[in-house]
Amino acid sequence: MSVRINPSILSADSGNFQTEFESIASADLVHVDVMDNHFVPNLTFGLPVVARMQQYTPKPLDVHLMISDTDRWAIGYAEIGAYSVTFHAESTDQPVSLARRIRAAGARAGIAVKPGTAIEPYLEMLSEFDQLLVMTVEPGFGGQKLIEDTLPKVAAARRRIDSEKLAVWLQVDGGIDQSNIERVSALGADTFVAGSAVFKSPDRAAQIEALRQAAERGHSHN
Ligand code: DX5
Ligand code: ZN
Repeated sequence: MSVRINPSILSADSGNFQTEFESIASADLVHVDVMDNHFVPNLTFGLPVVARMQQYTPKPLDVHLMISDTDRWAIGYAEIGAYSVTFHAESTDQPVSLARRIRAAGARAGIAVKPGTAIEPYLEMLSEFDQLLVMTVEPGFGGQKLIEDTLPKVAAARRRIDSEKLAVWLQVDGGIDQSNIERVSALGADTFVAGSAVFKSPDRAAQIEALRQAAERGHSHN
C-alpha cells in the first residue's frame, strides 16, 4: 500500500499561492479546502480561484468541499480538472448519484464524514467512491488537535476496504503531524492531509519526507 502526503494550502500564505505550491513539490497532491461560511464557520475560496490554481499547480488537486450546496457546485470542480473532488456526507441526500456525476466529469469522487457522523452507512456504498475522508478534527480551521475518538472509524474503514478488496483511498484530515502520523497509518489510513505541520515548517521538503517516512513505518506494522 502506498502512502500519500497532501499538504493543505489552508495554512499556506494566501498572498503567494504559486510560490507556496512550488515549495511542496515533493508532495503527492495539493489539498484545497473550499469553505462557504455556511457548512463551516469559515470562508476560503470558490470555483474561479481553484480553476486558476489548476492552471499553475505542479501537482494534482485534492479538492475538499466544505459547502452546503454541494449538489450545485461539486461537478464544476471536476470540470475544471481537479484530480479528486471530496464532498461531505452531511451536505447531500444523494451521495451515490453525486459521486457518479463527479466520476463522469472525470475526477475521482470522495466522501467525507465529520467527527460526529457515523461511518457505517457510507461503508455500505464504498464501491461508489475513490476516496473516503475521515475528518480527525471538526472541519473549518487548520491547526487544531486531532480528536482521538475519530480513529476507530479509520480502523473500521480499513477493515471494510480490505475485506471487499476495494481500491478506495483512506484519507485523514486534521491535526496530523509527526507525533501521530505513524499511529494513524498503522490503523490503516494511506492518504494524509497536513496543513500546519507542513506550512509552518521552515523546510517543507524535509517535513514532507519526515511525514512520509513515519507513515510508511506505520504501514509496516500491518
Ligand atoms: C480543516 C481542513 C483541513 C486543514 C488541516 O477543516 O479540512 O484540511 O487545513 O489543517 P491541519 O493539518 O493544520 O489540522
Ligand atoms: Zn481539508
